[in-house]
Amino acid sequence: MDVLARYEPLVDDYGAFRAACERPLPTVVRVNTIEADVGRATDALDEEGVGWEPRAWHPGLLELGTDSPGNTWPYFLGWLHGQEEVSAIPPVVLDPAPGDRVWDACAAPGSKTTQLAAMMDDRGFLVATDDTLGRLAPLRSNAERLGVTNLAVTHADARNFSLAAFEFDTFDAALVDAPCSGEGTIRKNPAALDGWSESFLAGVAGVQKGILRRAVQATRPGGTVVYSTCTFAPEENEAVLDFVLDAEGCRIVDFEVPLESTPGVTEWQGETFDPSVERARRFWPHHNDTGGFFCAKLEVAG
Ligand SMILES: C[S@@+](CC[C@H](N)C(=O)[O-])C[C@H]1O[C@@H](n2cnc3c(N)ncnc32)[C@H](O)[C@@H]1O
Repeated sequence: MDVLARYEPLVDDYGAFRAACERPLPTVVRVNTIEADVGRATDALDEEGVGWEPRAWHPGLLELGTDSPGNTWPYFLGWLHGQEEVSAIPPVVLDPAPGDRVWDACAAPGSKTTQLAAMMDDRGFLVATDDTLGRLAPLRSNAERLGVTNLAVTHADARNFSLAAFEFDTFDAALVDAPCSGEGTIRKNPAALDGWSESFLAGVAGVQKGILRRAVQATRPGGTVVYSTCTFAPEENEAVLDFVLDAEGCRIVDFEVPLESTPGVTEWQGETFDPSVERARRFWPHHNDTGGFFCAKLEVAG
C-alpha cells in the first residue's frame, strides 16, 4: 500500500512532498548548553575540520558536513547531541524556565529531555518517563553524557502516571512526544512504513489519547502541555487533540516557530474536529528540508 498517497489532499505540492520523502535527511546536531556554548562547540568542529552551518531559526542547531557526528571530540565531550531539526521544536514551544517542574511523559532516548534540561539551565525538576524498559538505558546515558543533573527517570505507563512519589501535586508543564506510526521519519528510516496498518493507527491513537489526557490532569491550572508526533496521520494528531478538548479542561493556543508549516486540519475522511485544532502546526518534509512533524500547544484551564 502507498501510505503517503493518503495525504495528497492535505499537501500543497504533492510532487515536492514525495520527492523530499525520498531524500536522506541532513545531519543535524544540537549544542548542549549545559556543557558548552555555540562558539566553543563550533571552534572544536573547526579544529577537527568538520564543516557546520547553523539552522536559521535556532543558532544552537548545526547542520554538519559529516554523517558520523558521534565520532567527533565535541560530541564525545557532551557538547553536541545528534537531534533531528524538527525534534527540537516541542521544547522550544514548551519554553520551560529554570526552576520549573516539568514532566516529559514519553522521554526515551532523551533528545527532548536533555534539550528541556538545557533550557532550564539544569535547574528545577525534570521527570522523564518511558514505559519501555530497554529504552531507559540510552535515556540515562544520554543524560549523563550531556551533564544533566536536574532529572529523575521513571519507568511507567504515562497513562496511569502517579505523582505520589513527589512532594508536589502538579507539574508546571508537560511534554507528550507520543509513540506514533512514525510516518514522518521515512527520510531517516526508509522501512518506517513497512508495518503500517489502519489497525495500528487506531491502537496507537488510543494510547496517545490516554497519555495526553493524563498530562493535562498532571499539569497545574494555567500550565502548558505540548503534544507532538512524527506522523502525518490526522487520526494520531488532530483527532487526539479533539478528544482531549472534550475530555479535559484545556484549550489549544497559538505558537510561533519560524519554520514553514501549515495549520492543523479540521476534517479528515468524513470526521470533523474542533476548529481550534487549526492552531496546531504541521511541518512537512519539503517545506524546510526536515522530517515530517506535528506539534500543538495546550493551556490547562484555570
Ligand atoms: C517518539 S518516542 C519519544 C522520543 C523522545 N521524546 C526523544 O525526543 O528522544 C515515544 C516513546 O514513548 C514511549 N511510550 C510508548 N507508550 C508509552 C506509554 N504508555 N507511557 C510512556 N511511554 C510510552 C516509547 O517507549 C518511546 O520511547
